[in-house]
Amino acid sequence: MEGRLINLSSGLPDAKVSRAADSSVLRISGGHRLHGHVTISGAKNSALVIMAGALLCSEDCRIRNVPLLADVDKMGQVLSALGISLERHGNVLDVNASEIRTSKAPYELVTQLRASFFAIGAILARLGVAQMPLPGGCAIGARPVDLHVRGLQAMGAEVQIEHGICNAYVPGSKRRLQGANIYLDSPSVGATETLMMAATLAEGETILENAAREPEVVDLANLCISMGAKIKGAGTSTIIIDGVPKLHSTDYTIIPDRIEAGTFLLAGAITRSEILLSPVIGEHLLPVIAKLREMGVKLVEEAPDCLRVLPADILRPTDIETLPHPGFPTDMQAPFMSLLTLAEGDSLINESVFENRLRHASELNRLGADIRVKGNTAFIRGVPMLSGAPVICTDLRAAAALVLAGLAAQGQTTIHGLQHLDRGYDRLDVKLQQLGAKIQRLPATGRDREFINNISDTSVQISSK
Ligand code: UD1
Repeated sequence: MEGRLINLSSGLPDAKVSRAADSSVLRISGGHRLHGHVTISGAKNSALVIMAGALLCSEDCRIRNVPLLADVDKMGQVLSALGISLERHGNVLDVNASEIRTSKAPYELVTQLRASFFAIGAILARLGVAQMPLPGGCAIGARPVDLHVRGLQAMGAEVQIEHGICNAYVPGSKRRLQGANIYLDSPSVGATETLMMAATLAEGETILENAAREPEVVDLANLCISMGAKIKGAGTSTIIIDGVPKLHSTDYTIIPDRIEAGTFLLAGAITRSEILLSPVIGEHLLPVIAKLREMGVKLVEEAPDCLRVLPADILRPTDIETLPHPGFPTDMQAPFMSLLTLAEGDSLINESVFENRLRHASELNRLGADIRVKGNTAFIRGVPMLSGAPVICTDLRAAAALVLAGLAAQGQTTIHGLQHLDRGYDRLDVKLQQLGAKIQRLPATGRDREFINNISDTSVQISSK
């Protein structure tokens, strides 16, 4: 893919990619140390929303450091269906939204990718009308969009939900959203992003209170600022946006993925290895670094954007509660659970952001972990070792958790359901191979298919969006 010119508007063979991921498995021969340097890709959650943000501008936008992910391809397909022109050259994506041909996003695609719903803010701001299918619930929880809708209504939009579609329009001859004071009941990342995009082109000032403070929100704000938007306070709980009539062309580079970086720190910690990661933004990783240090993992900042993980003498247990940024990220919860299974003592994880995000616990137990789940709390009793087994991914971050556990487990682990992994990790298996991991992507055999067919809990196969 690297270096090839790919026209996303012609549509990547997404169905084929996903079928291939469905029919392949990862086989890991665990218990080996890793070594070397790994390059961290651009942030998935920034890339998706920044692609939506490019809709705000009717001139050329160049986005750099775009990760190679199934979700990015899918977002590209959503934008293409709206009539936007997209061209990709390796990690560089050129977007031209001079003409948005339709305000109606395709049902099948938006229902598969929650982040594509966030484009409603940009489409409404540009056209004064948007028809966006509801993203629906998913494997990790119900994930409503009420905060997005209420915020757009506060800015003067009429919003009706009918037949699974969120129909929004701005009344009046100017069809321009109006600045408003909006308090978010909870600091939703997506709602903050939707409303920030909508407010950049609104008439007057918008104040978002209790806004999300995630680095990806700041990245989106920086993209908008680079296009001429007037935004202050991104990264704090109060974001002030002074609407402008038009934005201009930009050339913008996405931040490194803090969740991918955290996953590689854990890969080093769980295999007791020394790995160097770059580029990273240490500040974005503070809660993860703090917990790793508490567990006895050694981390050294070699340069401002370079982090080295060194083997721990012993892995101490710890307790974790997931929280909005700058708290411990929910996206690191599953991968961290894998490490805690091997700590010397009892740990506890409380998942407070999503209501159903502990389903990987039972898969980790297949590998010999000792985890009990009650409500949104997982009680993890450390075991001396894990042992390889066939397992299935239940969602994206659960997939990473299983890969990590497989790297540490004695013997062979086979991981099924790779479509989840490929959604959000840029060639994780290839990067691990380069670090010396014994991991291979192979076509599923008859025995692998039998395992999937025999899983009695079919709900484990629900896909996450
Ligand atoms: C984003 C990230 C996801 C991450 C999550 C939390 C993207 C593409 N995805 O998801 O990886 O796990 O932030 O850090 O950026 N909620 C409501 N009403 C709403 C919106 C959200 O009740 O209108 C609830 C959700 O159900 C959830 C909580 O708020 O329980 C947090 O969700 P939110 O921050 O919105 O997550 P996303 O933006 O969907």
